[in-house]
Amino acid sequence: MQVRVEQGDITRIATEAICLGIFQGVQRPGGAAGAVDRALDGALSEVLTDGDFSCKKGEVFWLRTHGKIGAKRVLLVGLGSSEKFSADVVREVSAAAARAAKSLSELTTIAHGAGIGGLDPQIAAQATIEGTLLGLYRFEKFKKPEEPIKLERLRIVEHRAEKLEQLQIGARRGQIIAESVCFARDLANEPGQSLPPRELARRAQGLAQELGLRCEVFDEKALEQLGMGGILAVGKGSDEPPRFIVLEYNVTKDSQPIVLAGKGITFDSGGISIKPREGMEAMKYDMSGAAAVLGAMRAVALLKLPISVVGLIAAAENLPSGKAIKPGDVIQISNGKTVEVTNTDAEGRLVLADALVYAQRYNPHAVIDVATLTGACTIALGKEAAGLFSNDESLAQKIQRAAQQTGERVWPLPLYEEYKELIKSEIADIKNSMNKGPLAGASIGAIFLKEFVNYPWAHLDIAGVAYDVESRLYHAKGATGYGVRLLTQLLQNWT
Ligand code: BES
Ligand code: MN
Ligand code: ZN
Repeated sequence: MQVRVEQGDITRIATEAICLGIFQGVQRPGGAAGAVDRALDGALSEVLTDGDFSCKKGEVFWLRTHGKIGAKRVLLVGLGSSEKFSADVVREVSAAAARAAKSLSELTTIAHGAGIGGLDPQIAAQATIEGTLLGLYRFEKFKKPEEPIKLERLRIVEHRAEKLEQLQIGARRGQIIAESVCFARDLANEPGQSLPPRELARRAQGLAQELGLRCEVFDEKALEQLGMGGILAVGKGSDEPPRFIVLEYNVTKDSQPIVLAGKGITFDSGGISIKPREGMEAMKYDMSGAAAVLGAMRAVALLKLPISVVGLIAAAENLPSGKAIKPGDVIQISNGKTVEVTNTDAEGRLVLADALVYAQRYNPHAVIDVATLTGACTIALGKEAAGLFSNDESLAQKIQRAAQQTGERVWPLPLYEEYKELIKSEIADIKNSMNKGPLAGASIGAIFLKEFVNYPWAHLDIAGVAYDVESRLYHAKGATGYGVRLLTQLLQNWT
């Protein structure tokens, strides 16, 4: 999509359609919409006062302009109630408008919310572009769309010269970030069949080459040498070998980087502790944490943020076979800790343990892992927030702030010491699951991970938010790309 910011008079711009947002309860629009209304001899206020259009969030209404203004059509989009207005509402309504205009080749819009008393123009432009691009996303690798998307050019128009630069910065940011989210969505939507660990590594290498990042991929032999018994054990049951992927942005000898670690289970059958058949196909998205890390690395590099960042991905396919690990087996993580594997379906924590140990070598400023770790987190929080666990209050606060800014919500959950009692093993240092009823499953996963960190750390359990979230207008069916916007915002705030 070509995105541009232009200075101009909204009533004069020649375009197929001009998109205007209207709050609920408005009868006489002001600002840009007011100018269009006057040029159309009150056609907008007529629609609003007659109740033809109620301005509910994301509702759309088309008007023909009969040559009275430069635009052929006006696309009204409801902004909902002004009290509930936020940057996330801008994303949602922009998505709804873009979908309504998908069969046009170009669309002109104002940056929703950038008017007097509204959002910062940069944030308004960023959210408008993000919403537009995310709203148009579809996973089209295996199916031609019934109604193709023709929209190729998007223009933000603004008449005040002093706002242009901020709008431009925001629009560019929005485009980079939204395209990075779509990159992550594509990865998570892709079946395990065509995206096993080796292929995930190849995609990471391709991305690194494109962006000029350092990238290293560890194969089975290298994993053996590093003693990464967690990743190896989980990968053992599959004919597709596991991989550990390292991406570095701006890392120098003594640059304490921020490390992002992603769970990259390209398919999770549960292994010998096999999952029930219903819904197992969704377990292709068990690498959504890895996808979020790759998407964030992409955004950070394209935005050229002045910060050093490392991306770590622990990739494996969790399958049962004659070679698979069995319940009761004891494995050793790369820091020497032994783990009794009481449930082969609690595999995410095993691969992440090796990644978290590896992160120690960077002397990191902070480490954030992102993982579809537990069904229990979805039970606790549903699809409206990721679980946030942290051993560092200031890091947790930074993540909460980024969550507020992006609308990618997080909710803090506890890491009580008492949970550790529940994963004590008789024969090893620790076991990987409790097997004693459904108690605090998300916290137990997190407390396991905590055993492998010695730095400021946060764990995001994204099992609920990574896939099929229908409550946001800028989501499509399938992968949401959750985490890319949150992590990028967090890293941007850090600079
Ligand atoms: N990948 C799953 C968690 C998951 C479940 C993500 C549903 C998304 C949707 C994870 O590997 C898993 O199987 N966790 C187990 C842990 C249990 C065995 C301790 C779970 O949640 O049941
Ligand atoms: Mn599992
Ligand atoms: Zn899993």
